[in-house]
Amino acid sequence: MRIRTIEDYHEAYKDSIEDPKTFWAAIAQEFRWKKPWTKVLDWSFDDYNVKWFRNGKLNITENCLDRHAENKPNHPALIWEPNDPEDEPEIITYKVLLDRVCRFANVLKKHGVTKGDRVCIYMPMIPELAVAVLACARIGAIHSVIFGGFSAQSISDRINDSQCELVVTTDGAVRGAKNIPMKETVDDALVACPSVKKVIVATHTRTPVSMIKGRDYWWESEVKHVEAECPAEEMDSEDPLFILYTSGSTGKPKGVVHTCGGYMVFTSYTFENVFQYHPGDVFFCTADVGWITGHSYLVYGPLLSGAITVMFEGIPTYPDAGRLWDIVDRHKVNILYTAPTAIRSLMGFGLEYLEGKDLSSLKVLGSVGEPINEEAWHWYNDHIGKGKCPIVDTWWQTETGGIMISPLAGITKTKPSYATLPLPGVQLELVDENGSTIEGNGVNGNLCITYPWPSIIRTTWGDHERCKSTYFSTYPGKYFTGDGCMRDEDGYYRITGRVDDVLNVSGHRIGTAEVENAINSHTGVVESAVVGYPHDVKGQGVHAFVICEEPQDEDSMMKRDILMTVSRIIGPIAKPDKIQIVSGLPKTRSGKIMRRILRKIAEGEYNNLGDTSTLLDPGVVDEIVKGAKEL
Ligand code: WT7
Repeated sequence: MRIRTIEDYHEAYKDSIEDPKTFWAAIAQEFRWKKPWTKVLDWSFDDYNVKWFRNGKLNITENCLDRHAENKPNHPALIWEPNDPEDEPEIITYKVLLDRVCRFANVLKKHGVTKGDRVCIYMPMIPELAVAVLACARIGAIHSVIFGGFSAQSISDRINDSQCELVVTTDGAVRGAKNIPMKETVDDALVACPSVKKVIVATHTRTPVSMIKGRDYWWESEVKHVEAECPAEEMDSEDPLFILYTSGSTGKPKGVVHTCGGYMVFTSYTFENVFQYHPGDVFFCTADVGWITGHSYLVYGPLLSGAITVMFEGIPTYPDAGRLWDIVDRHKVNILYTAPTAIRSLMGFGLEYLEGKDLSSLKVLGSVGEPINEEAWHWYNDHIGKGKCPIVDTWWQTETGGIMISPLAGITKTKPSYATLPLPGVQLELVDENGSTIEGNGVNGNLCITYPWPSIIRTTWGDHERCKSTYFSTYPGKYFTGDGCMRDEDGYYRITGRVDDVLNVSGHRIGTAEVENAINSHTGVVESAVVGYPHDVKGQGVHAFVICEEPQDEDSMMKRDILMTVSRIIGPIAKPDKIQIVSGLPKTRSGKIMRRILRKIAEGEYNNLGDTSTLLDPGVVDEIVKGAKEL
C-alpha cells in the first residue's frame, strides 16, 4: 500500500477514517500469515482493551527474514559499521541473517527458553544484538532490551519486574574511546535476580570476565553445537512480541508491551511510506536498539520491508565530528534518520567536518525523539541535505510503536519544526485542561488520539490498571500522549513538548521522580526536586534542587557524590547537569512542591515566577533565585 502522491495521501487518510478496519486489513494482507484473522479489531478506550487481527497466526521473523531469504538470499539485510573506522564493516545478507537467527534461536531453546518466556538483552550495537532480538521472536520468547547506558540496579529492576529467565550480553563494549563493561554490570545486577537461570555472553572486546559454571555460556561455542534450522513458532496476533521499559511520572519505569500482528503491520507501513523507501536504498537509523526507535526503524521496520539497514556501533563524534558523514559516504546511505540532539552537537563543531565528504547519495533525512528547533532544521536541510532532501520530522512514542505524525518524504509538505500531518489511520484531537475538544485551527492544547492504530501499547507488563490510569484516565475515552501541541492556521501540528514530569535529555526519556528517588537515596540528602530546562545541545538539561542534612562548604564532595549515586542507581544518562543545594523548597501549605516555580527559575525567568504568596515560606524563593544565578 504505497502512497506516491499527495492525492494518494488524502485518499488513504479519508479511507482510514471512514473505515479503519477495511483500511488496515488491506495492508495486513500483504504479510505472510500462518492463519488468517477472523476479526480485524475489538477495542474500548473506556475500559482499555485493544485487539487487532483476532485469531490471526503469524511469526514476525518469517516476514522479516524467510520471505526475503527466499526471494533474494544474497541481498544485504544489515550493514554493520564498527566503532573503530579502521576495522572492517560487516555485510550480512538475508540468507545469512536468517541462518544466524535460527542458530541462536536453537541455543535459546536448548537452554530451556520457550514461548512466552522473557529474555533480557543487554548488549552494545553489534549484529548479535539484532540476532538475539529476532531469535527471541523466532521462538515466541518476549524480549526485553535494556539500553547499555543503564546501571546494574536498573537492569535488575527491569529483570525482576518481568521475571526474565535468561540474559544475553557481551563481555564488554566500546563507544568512542571508552571501554564499557557489560558482563560485569550484568553480574552485579544478577545478585538481586533469582529468576535468571542462564546467561549467554558474546565475545566482543575480549575483556576478562567472570564465567560461572552451569549459568554462564559463550555465544560462539553454543551456536556451534546446534542446527542451522529452526521452525518459526506460530504466534497469535495478540501474543506479546516484546517489553520495553520507559519512564513516566512515577519513580518506577513501566514495561510497555507490544504484540506481534499490529506492531508488524504498523512499523512496516510507516517505514515504507514516511521514508518512501525504494528497494535497494540504504537506510541508516542512528538510534540504539535499546530504545523504541531502534526496535521499530533499525530492526523490525526495515527488515519487514526487505531493506538494507545500517547499524553503527560508535558515536557521531568519534574519531571526530565527521563520523556520520564518513558513514554516509562509505556505505552510500540514501536515508538518514537521526535525533536533533546529534544534529545540534555536530552543528557546534563547525562545517570543516563536512569537507571532502560525499553526501550525494542522500535522498531523505529524518528527525526523531524531540522537537527540532528551526536553527538545527535549517542546518540539517542546507548542509546535509543540500536543500534537496525532504526532512521528515517524525513524532511518536515508545507507546505508539511507530510513527504517528510526520511528513511523507517528497509527498506532503515539510515545515521547519513541525511534525506536520497525521499518518493515515491516526485520529488526533487537541483538548483543553477540562478535557473539552478544541476545534479549528490556530490553537494549542494537549495531544490525544481517539481511535486505535495497530501498534498501540497493549498493556504495561504485569499491571494493566497502570496502563489504563496512565494513558486513558486523564481524558476518558481518549489516549493521552503527555505532549502539548499546536495546530497552526493551516492545520499542521507542532509538538511543543511534554506537559507531565517526563524529561527528554538528548532524546533519552527520563522521569523526574526517578532522578529524585536516586538523589534522595544518598545518605546526606533530605529531599530534592528535579526539573528540566532548555539546553542548547541536549534539548533539555536536568536541574536538581537538593536539601542536605548539613550545610555544605566550597570543597564539599556532596555534589560529586550525588552524581555518582544517580549514575549507580539509574545510569550515567540521568546525571543532573546542575545541582543546586538549597535550604528549603517552595511548598504549598499542604506540603506540595511548586514545580512551576522551580521550572521558571531553572529556565532563568527570575522575574516571572507568578504568585508566590500561597507558599508556606515565600522567602525561600529569593534564596533559590540567588543560588541559581550563582551556579
Ligand atoms: C516523547 C516520546 C519516538 C521515538 C523516540 C522517543 C518526544 C518524539 C518527537 C518529535 C517533538 C518528539 C515527545 C514524545 N518526541 N518525537 N518529532 N517532535 N517531540 O520515544 O522515549 O517514548 O519519547 O518524545 O515528547 O512524547 P520516547
